[in-house]
Amino acid sequence: MFHLGWFVGGGFGPQAWNSQWSGTHGAEWTRGAFYADLARSLERACFDYLILEDGLMITDAYRGSMEVDLKYAWESPRLDPMAAVAVMSQATSRIGLVATLSTSFYPPYMAARMLVSLDHLSAGRVGANLVTSSSHRSAQNFGLDEHFEHDLRYEMADEWMDLVDRLCASWEPQAVVADQQAGVFADFRKVHTVDFAGRFHRSRGPLNAPAGPQGRPVVCQAGGSPAGREFAAKHSDTIIAVPHGIEGMKAYREDISARMIRHGRKPTDCKVLFLVNPVIGETDDQARELLALRRARQRSPEVMETVLAQMSYFSGIDFAQFDLDGPFPDLTGRVNGHQSSMTRFANAAAGRTLRETVMDHDTVESVELVGSPDTVAAQMGEVMAEVGGDGFLIATPVHRRVVAEIADGLVPALQRRGLVRTSYSHELFRDNLLEF
Ligand SMILES: Cc1cc2nc3c(=O)[nH]c(=O)nc-3n(C[C@H](O)[C@H](O)[C@H](O)COP(=O)(O)O)c2cc1C
Repeated sequence: MFHLGWFVGGGFGPQAWNSQWSGTHGAEWTRGAFYADLARSLERACFDYLILEDGLMITDAYRGSMEVDLKYAWESPRLDPMAAVAVMSQATSRIGLVATLSTSFYPPYMAARMLVSLDHLSAGRVGANLVTSSSHRSAQNFGLDEHFEHDLRYEMADEWMDLVDRLCASWEPQAVVADQQAGVFADFRKVHTVDFAGRFHRSRGPLNAPAGPQGRPVVCQAGGSPAGREFAAKHSDTIIAVPHGIEGMKAYREDISARMIRHGRKPTDCKVLFLVNPVIGETDDQARELLALRRARQRSPEVMETVLAQMSYFSGIDFAQFDLDGPFPDLTGRVNGHQSSMTRFANAAAGRTLRETVMDHDTVESVELVGSPDTVAAQMGEVMAEVGGDGFLIATPVHRRVVAEIADGLVPALQRRGLVRTSYSHELFRDNLLEF
């Protein structure tokens, strides 16, 4: 069996606001009901978790303007994912709920307190997708002129994690006694300061909230650079990744396993889920037609502009300055943003012009899955058998039709083949994640 998650990315707010199947999405994406509805649908299909992406700015890396981001609702606007997790936790009882959180800008005490609070409110189902943030614009929203250097951010994140772990554990599990007869609510001897003084962070502690049901919330990570993988191998319970093709997926899993062993961890203690974007039709033929339509849409001026803006955001270098009919620019050593995502673009660009690379850019996915629900279910089973991986993360922009295709079409087909769970065995998110 393998695990399933849903990556609510691309500005997790309006997402597919402008498709044929958007319905009231563009108007209602700010309402709690929208998130509750999504979480309930995925819980019906026994997803392990859903993860909400985040960013801390409106990007203007392309042409120095916020136009593309806002006009197409590409990365912005969005709400704070932790607020959405609180809402979704009240509409569900088993699915894991993961909010993206920046280790560069969220003070450790605030992060630990928020995560422990959400863990209580969700009865042990919260996770944090830890990112280091990538753009100077984010840094400027927190009083800095420029963002920290790429690898230094991961050193900061490592210390941040250490402190957050200590704060989450600053209340022993039995500290709350609530003994009415003795008149004692919490046993002060079981609540400890952390007295942390590091290179980047200091905190006295303890938290002023008791430890959550999971103790430490589930930790998720996505950075694919060597520094990012090292951080993930040391700390994560789950990793979301987009290596290309079956060989790339295998190599990614093996690399993480080797790093985990070096950190004294068992590889089975971290689940690596690969992003996919399945095209599902009533029949295989219809799915292939839908794929052709998707590819044609990828060549529209709107999507091409968005891809150029995306490259600018990921690299921190304005792609408007490059000749579309010249070669893909050599950015070696110049990217302080998402290094692994830019490497993907550069690899796809070999021998092609920038225009060709943009026109034929891949949807963000590790392998292409196309067909009827049953065909796609079989493909997913074959891929997992070869990769020896832990599962998939659906990354299709969200509208209700897509959710129904996956939750009510693809997942039952996977369940019939015995490939995914048909119920949750445990109450806590981490226990379900580590079950197999
Ligand atoms: C699938 C995936 C999802 C990501 N989601 C986010 C996100 O929500 N917010 C964010 O700031 N960065 C996100 N990132 C970026 C990474 O977490 C990381 O901060 C960035 O890629 C730089 O790290 P790297 O150079 O190690 O790849 C994502 C990356 C991947 C591959």
